[in-house]
Amino acid sequence: MTDLLELLTAELFSRLSLPQQAHYAALASTLAQRLKQRQFYDLFPNADRTDVDGSVLIYARYRYPKHLEFFDAGAHYRERCFLAANRVGKTTCGAYETTCHLTGIYPDWWTGRRFDTPVRVWACGRRNETTRDIVQKALLGSVAYDGMHKVLEGSGMIPGSLIGRVTWKRGVEDLTDTVKVKHSTGGWSTLGMKSYEQGRGSFEGTSQHVIWLDEECPMDVYGECLVRTMTTQGMIMLTFTPLEGMSKTVLQFQLEKDKAVLGHM
Ligand SMILES: Nc1ncnc2c1ncn2[C@@H]1O[C@H](COP(=O)(O)OP(=O)(O)OP(=O)(O)O)[C@@H](O)[C@H]1O
Ligand SMILES: [Mg+2]
Repeated sequence: MTDLLELLTAELFSRLSLPQQAHYAALASTLAQRLKQRQFYDLFPNADRTDVDGSVLIYARYRYPKHLEFFDAGAHYRERCFLAANRVGKTTCGAYETTCHLTGIYPDWWTGRRFDTPVRVWACGRRNETTRDIVQKALLGSVAYDGMHKVLEGSGMIPGSLIGRVTWKRGVEDLTDTVKVKHSTGGWSTLGMKSYEQGRGSFEGTSQHVIWLDEECPMDVYGECLVRTMTTQGMIMLTFTPLEGMSKTVLQFQLEKDKAVLGHM
């Protein structure tokens, strides 16, 4: 598809009539938008994906053994923690698995947990702003305006074409409250955004199948998340760098055998 965008040289383009140029520009822009929306399908390939000059565009998944181990552990543990250094791909990992469960689309190499019905998911960060700028962005891309309407670009991990109805939180600019995501069964999964700064009380209420906590969370919030996933036999994924050292959250994963702690990179 990229080739299509590069097919027309400037010289050829100038030979088109004005309406043809406008039509081509519109097609190229739609194509570019669609390419931005397919990150999920391109990640973790069998072999390195290279550009024409040989440089690697996306590394093969065998180069990410810790990430694969994290996914796999989902089949055996309800509580998992990806405890690792900065910039190693923790958020990417969390966003990827969250997208699998929301959409019901699992790659053929997937050995982790599977849900075969639409799911309810919370994706959470420390503060409202970081939830918006990191977690929401990783899953849904940037927020844009279509005329007067606020829309999601869909350039995050969730394929843009599968994003449905969006509601927005009050009082925090551009932070989504809930987003419907089309599931492979034809139903809709529900993604909710939460932040720890909203307090434990805001985590009360509905049961969830998957809760993804990107950044270390307070123990009272963690306890509430456990309750939310109890009746669904759901799961909790934590992805963070232990900047606070041997905190209670880190210790409980180090000491308790029914929890998986992976990473240590
Ligand atoms: N499997 C992958 N394939 C290709 N690129 C990846 C992969 N995982 C991560 N990256 C890239 O590496 C960079 C860092 O990823 P990410 O933000 O997920 O790391 P992080 O560990 O969450 O970082 P931080 O410590 O800042 O929270 C991003 O640009 C991301 O696109
Ligand atoms: Mg991160």
